[in-house]
This record gives sequence, C-alpha cells and structure tokens, in this order.
Amino acid sequence: MNGFDKIAEIWDENLRRVYLAKQIFSAIEKKIELNSQMKVADIGTGTGLLLIQVLPLVGEIYGFDNSSQMLKMLEEKINKAELTNVKTCLFNADYDEFKQDDFDLFVSSMAFHHIENIDNLLAKIYNATSKGGKIAIADLEAEDGSFHSEPDDSIKHLGFDKQQFKAKLEKNGFSEVEVETIFSLERENKKFPIFLATAKK
Ligand SMILES: C[S@@+](CC[C@H](N)C(=O)[O-])C[C@H]1O[C@@H](n2cnc3c(N)ncnc32)[C@H](O)[C@@H]1O
Repeated sequence: MNGFDKIAEIWDENLRRVYLAKQIFSAIEKKIELNSQMKVADIGTGTGLLLIQVLPLVGEIYGFDNSSQMLKMLEEKINKAELTNVKTCLFNADYDEFKQDDFDLFVSSMAFHHIENIDNLLAKIYNATSKGGKIAIADLEAEDGSFHSEPDDSIKHLGFDKQQFKAKLEKNGFSEVEVETIFSLERENKKFPIFLATAKK
C-alpha cells in the first residue's frame, strides 16, 4: 500500500483540493478548446477531481494512476453516475508505457512533483500524443519544502521552476510552449503558486 492508497478514502474531504482542481480545470478550459471528439489522458488522476470536470466536454478520458485505492474511489464515482466514456488504468508513470498512442490531449493536476523522471515521462507523453495534440500540466511552482507538512517518500520534486519546465517541454519536442502562473494556494500566510504548462505536438 503506498501513501496515496492510505488517504484515498478521505482525499475529496479536503475542500482546498476540490477548489484547486476547479481552478486548474477553469485555467485549462480557457487555454485548450475541448471537444467531443477528443481522447484524453489524465496522469496521476487520483480520485478524478480534474478528470470528472473534463469528461463531459470530451469524447473519452483515461485516468492513469499508480494508487489502486485512489482509482477505486474514482471507479465508485464512475459506477454511481453510470459513466461509460471513462477508463481507469493502474499505471506507474516512472516505469510503465502507454499502450494507446493516439491521445489528443494529456492533462495532469498536482501529480508531476510525485514523479521521479520527468524527462522520461515527457518523452513518453510526446510519443503518445497525436499530431497536433496538446498537453496541459498543472503543478506546484518551485517551493522550499513547506508545501507538504510532513516528509514523504512520494515527493520527488519541490515543485518546478517555470523556465526549466518550459525548457524540458521544448527539449522533448513540444512547440507553442507556455508556462504560466494560474493561481496561488494560501496557507499559514504563505503563498504556493501553481503553474499551468500548455504545449502542442
Ligand atoms: C497530489 S495527488 C493529485 C491527484 C489528482 N490529480 C488531484 O488533482 O486531486 C497525486 C496523484 O499522483 C499519483 N501518483 C504519484 N506518483 C505516481 C506515479 N509514479 N505514477 C502514476 N501516478 C502517480 C498519486 O497516486 C496521486 O493520485
């Protein structure tokens, strides 16, 4: 059982997370024209806080995550609402390969700082994106380690420097790269800016 498995049942009880996922969705919607033909992948989908918002506007969506318990919570939502155009995939972004190679859009919310090898993942995403397809990745900007209240093995990066993230996307072949601050989470008089990176294959 990994750390996210242990907190999956209470993940959605934190209203700050729910609010953040709404802010991220709203920023994505402003930058990317979603349509009912799109096949979308959500990396580190968790309980689907972002996926559930994207779903009604696209053709189908796949939620990738390496926590079976987070995916179980998402599956409960899917079953309850009898959704058919969504699939969950137990997937470790550091080791596994995408079977499908034709996603029109990759999205991700607050997951990349948990993934060790970002260059490797971006290369895999590039290969799995259709020609002209897009990506929209939101995560923490560089921080001093105080975002997570306790040390945790799952934290692989203390956020990301926006310029360095942009350079990584360009290095991995993406064009029209933009990395912008979209929102700041405020906690105990500290601000934690969140960026959205968008790009095209
Ligand atoms: C901070 S949570 C964000 C969940 C969701 N995107 C949201 O906004 O609520 C990070 C998610 O990434 C997943 N994750 C962490 N490392 C991963 C990896 N190596 N491969 C796939 N998923 C991973 C976790 O299981 C967790 O569900």
